[in-house]
Amino acid sequence: MEICVIEGDGIGKEVIPAATEVLKSLIPELTILTARAGWDAFTDLGEALPEEAVTLSKKAGAVLFGACSSPSYPVEGYASPIVRLRRILNTHANLRPTTYLPIPTAREGVNLLVVRENTEDVYGGQEQVEEGGDRTTAYKVITRQATERVAHTAFRLAQQSHRDRVTVVHKANVLPQTDGLFRRVAMEVAEQYPDIEVDELLVDTAAYWMVKEPTRFDIILTPNQYGDILSDMAAAWGGGLGVAPALNLGEGVAIAEPVHGSAPDIAGRGIANPTASILSLAMLVRYYWGMNEEAERMEQAVYRTLDEGNYTADLRPDGNISTEEFTQQIINHL
Ligand code: NAI
Ligand code: MG
Repeated sequence: MEICVIEGDGIGKEVIPAATEVLKSLIPELTILTARAGWDAFTDLGEALPEEAVTLSKKAGAVLFGACSSPSYPVEGYASPIVRLRRILNTHANLRPTTYLPIPTAREGVNLLVVRENTEDVYGGQEQVEEGGDRTTAYKVITRQATERVAHTAFRLAQQSHRDRVTVVHKANVLPQTDGLFRRVAMEVAEQYPDIEVDELLVDTAAYWMVKEPTRFDIILTPNQYGDILSDMAAAWGGGLGVAPALNLGEGVAIAEPVHGSAPDIAGRGIANPTASILSLAMLVRYYWGMNEEAERMEQAVYRTLDEGNYTADLRPDGNISTEEFTQQIINHL
């Protein structure tokens, strides 16, 4: 059993070693490969996603990725390495659960899963600049093949995890071709799962309900960009970005990846919450390695540590505990 660990930038260098420690305590025979990617790798090596990171990720199949600092302005030769890695490994679905955790900012009763298409939409990176920079366009791609694949994943997960309903979220009233295709194909796939209820919402209405009544959602099936945004909204109900996990799932490959970024505002201080990374690994342990009991142990250890310690999602202000001390408590609870 192997995993490729890529810390990335900022707090990735803190939360990823912490999560790796937890995994090593749980599965001592695991082989850990390490690779570099991100902004620091780009400035040091001239490449944001060096070939070695791709090779080792493919070799291991299982990947743990921290976060990278991507600038919001174009940099010659730089593209977000995690977006590229998801595409290269063809991880077609991004699973982002929000489940109640015992922290003051979490909303009781919330238990939803965003299943986000992970390879296309406007995140394909095809942007055009015209008129000397005064006119820009981005290319939105939705295909039957990718939609079918992610829809089957969503409905199968519904069956496996005893969830009752899949809500298809789109904006087909304004984009009847692209989002219309996503909606149509998702509904076709739904017919093959008669035991699972299906409904649909326009993405703006879904955002409204996500704020007003998040407990109404079970599984949300949606294209890449809407899934990105809605899952961050949902993360607020889970307690915050510090505890929001995600798993990118493909054929024979999975990337565990916290929802949060590199958090430059707190990086280097040893106070980042490793929960999101640990819960992302628990998803990989369950859905990729099929080790349900071990995944359950990780989740229970996190739950009990949070419950006993009265922590917040960012381990502050009353948390007053370091990433290392917090991780040790989780290991003690395993
Ligand atoms: P962010 O998620 O890094 O931080 C947002 C806020 O949440 C900050 O106040 C941060 O301190 C807090 N936070 C996040 N994770 C935390 C944790 N584990 N423990 C405690 N507090 C935590 O988002 P932001 O600030 O918008 O982006 C910073 C950088 O990260 C940018 O360069 C962005 O491009 C990158 N980013 C990378 C992602 C990835 O690699 N997958 C995802 C999102 C952002
Ligand atoms: Mg995001």
